[in-house]
Amino acid sequence: MSIGLGLIGYGGMGSWHAEMLREKLKDITVEGIWDIREEARQKAKENGFKVYSSLDELLGDKNVQLVTIATPNDWHKPLAKAAFEAGKNVVCEKPVSLCAADLQEMTDASVKAGKLFSVHQNRRWDRDYKMVRSMLESGIIGKPYFIESRVLGSRRVLFGWRGVKKEGGGMLLDWGVHLIDQLMDMIDEKVVSVGASLQEVYADEADDNCKVTLTFESGLQALV
Ligand SMILES: NC(=O)c1ccc[n+]([C@@H]2O[C@H](COP(=O)([O-])OP(=O)(O)OC[C@H]3O[C@@H](n4cnc5c(N)ncnc54)[C@H](O)[C@@H]3O)[C@@H](O)[C@H]2O)c1
Repeated sequence: MSIGLGLIGYGGMGSWHAEMLREKLKDITVEGIWDIREEARQKAKENGFKVYSSLDELLGDKNVQLVTIATPNDWHKPLAKAAFEAGKNVVCEKPVSLCAADLQEMTDASVKAGKLFSVHQNRRWDRDYKMVRSMLESGIIGKPYFIESRVLGSRRVLFGWRGVKKEGGGMLLDWGVHLIDQLMDMIDEKVVSVGASLQEVYADEADDNCKVTLTFESGLQALV
């Protein structure tokens, strides 16, 4: 049986989701797309997808069992809650929320609705990450005491909403969550302390230079 999927947000990532689902996952059917921008709706139509006339129409579609959210970060919580209230399962883009309290609200809403809730943390399957992980697991480099994981952009990496704080902009929420997630996936220990330094170098208000240090139970340290 095919699962019907409604996609919210047809920008860079949403259009990628739609294309990948159509090409590669035959047991999921993209039922349709909702985006607040006319231009994005037009593009979705041109690419052969059904476009809803409103969010309510998507959420009211009985063929949609699963909603994927690929909007700017500040919209993840209200859209996920609306989807749960409409009785849908949700896959949300990263960062799932802007803070832990928001994530708790979203999780509570999914439990109340009895629906599944997951986050698209796709970089757990990156080839470079998987190579490092398997080297650590095999023991060929011994037990690490310090791990450094970094992403470097150039010029102004934060464009559009990514440079606006209240929309969930900044490197910590953009790339930081991927690298922290990889560490949490790879190191089977609890984190006992966290430090962070967020700077605006070129950006006006959101961190475009972010450093996070994590110390694990065994004393292992990681710098993101
Ligand atoms: N997992 C990954 O590797 C990865 C990569 C890129 C982006 N993302 C995530 O995907 C999300 C979208 O990023 P993007 O790069 O596609 O941004 P984008 O700006 O290219 O696209 C966002 C789209 O959402 C639409 N939108 C905004 N508010 C909306 C609302 N309330 N309802 C419906 N549509 C709305 C916009 O019109 C736009 O078309 C972000 O959460 C981002 O962190 C994840």
